[in-house]
Amino acid sequence: MDFSEKKALVAYFSTKGVTKEAAEKVAAATDGKLFEIQAKEPYTDADLDWRVPDSRCNREFKDPTIRPELLKKAHCPGKYDVYFVGFPIWYGVYPAIVQSFLDSLKLAGKTVVFFCTSGGSNSGKSIAFAKEHTKDADKVTWLDDKLLTNASPEDVKAWVDAL
Ligand SMILES: Cc1cc2nc3c(=O)[nH]c(=O)nc-3n(C[C@H](O)[C@H](O)[C@H](O)COP(=O)(O)O)c2cc1C
Repeated sequence: MDFSEKKALVAYFSTKGVTKEAAEKVAAATDGKLFEIQAKEPYTDADLDWRVPDSRCNREFKDPTIRPELLKKAHCPGKYDVYFVGFPIWYGVYPAIVQSFLDSLKLAGKTVVFFCTSGGSNSGKSIAFAKEHTKDADKVTWLDDKLLTNASPEDVKAWVDAL
């Protein structure tokens, strides 16, 4: 994809900085605008403890209708052609806050590209989940998602250039 003609927003959610690092490489490769997806109520270490059945991450995963409130929306999101959306894989899919972000956009006619990091899983069911839960999903061009755990800047550049 030629990013001299397309404006890219590179939005990401990250709890420990792994996805943030990947997002910075995507922004550099696309000349895109970085935006951090943050929850109004930040995720604590206890919230992220999947060993505790009633922890926040487990509650959000078990109820796919939960939409955590965003701290803020992206500035003028409509001006972008392509939305890169990055996240850590949680239970094989994206965290609920990412759906809150997708819901904050008007995506009809736009292109969405997911990238993610994980402890080892592949990129999982994210696109299928998004198509099921996102408004106007049938009017969105969903490009293949990409796992970018530990990807080098050169790997990221080669990937975005080939989109
Ligand atoms: C609640 C929770 C669920 C997770 N589920 C998975 C998973 O299903 N597969 C996997 O490989 N890693 C899983 N991980 C690990 C994260 O995907 C991985 O550490 C990621 O790179 C963290 O990125 P971040 O620092 O940007 O948040 C999980 C982590 C958390 C906190």
